[in-house]
Amino acid sequence: MLTVRAPATSANLGSGFDVFGVALGTPADVIRVERAPETRITVTGAGSQYIPEDPDQNTVGAVADALDAPAHIKIDKGIRPSSGLGSSAASAAGAAVALNALYDRGLSREELVPIAAKGEAIVSGEAHADNVAPSILGGFTIVTDDGVTQVDTSISVVACLPETTVSTRDARGVVPGSASLDDVVTTVGNASTLTVGMTRDDPDLVGRGMNDSIVTPQRTALIDGYDRVHEAALEAGATGVTVSGAGPGVLAVCHDRDQNAIAGAMIDAFDSVDIESRAYQTHVSEGARLYPDRS
Ligand code: HSE
Repeated sequence: MLTVRAPATSANLGSGFDVFGVALGTPADVIRVERAPETRITVTGAGSQYIPEDPDQNTVGAVADALDAPAHIKIDKGIRPSSGLGSSAASAAGAAVALNALYDRGLSREELVPIAAKGEAIVSGEAHADNVAPSILGGFTIVTDDGVTQVDTSISVVACLPETTVSTRDARGVVPGSASLDDVVTTVGNASTLTVGMTRDDPDLVGRGMNDSIVTPQRTALIDGYDRVHEAALEAGATGVTVSGAGPGVLAVCHDRDQNAIAGAMIDAFDSVDIESRAYQTHVSEGARLYPDRS
């Protein structure tokens, strides 16, 4: 039996739609695998009642198929599905790392990214690697058709998760089919600023580079209370605030000293529209961690 802790992630970061992602220190899924003649999946934990255990319908089943690694896979969900915190991606990433080790496949972490992304296609209809990449590699990741670039950073963040849900399919349905040149130019500038901020561990630069006028405004409309939460987090000291992944989670980047105040302000703002929420005060952190076989 091998165990992997696979972290939640936040994709897009505003200006990096379908490109940027970060690994979060918490929450995380825990995946345990043991060899079996056929793949069998059991799911416990946050939102497990909504996750199919049929290997043909679970992100993890596709990963086991791709690695030709049948196993009994136990998923303990710390990350609620449809949260915008890369729930399905963490399970897929954790399974990829675990099964690669269990069957001595010898693939590098980078090589596991497209394999874990196959699992994402089951949930969203398209294979996105912007959540699985940071969950496997840790830090800040940039995913393009040419591969993944990774930067270690430990920027301070607050991820606030309302009790509401937004499906990735619905959130993709509101993405515009085209953008004006002005918006593209602004977004390239912001994304570049954000990237430099990550390399310098500078929350002010990262926050300044998070603005996006192409996709994010369409998605905030799907999240009740978003505008209040956004404003409250900025007033409490956040350097940047945006939708986490496809939502409804909201990500604030900040200095360590402001984490508590921002978490409280975001929870109070959701509360003001009668929505319960919880806030993870954390940092951009390491990728999936493999624990040795104790059996
Ligand atoms: N980049 C993706 C999106 C992440 O925002 O739709 C969720 O799969």
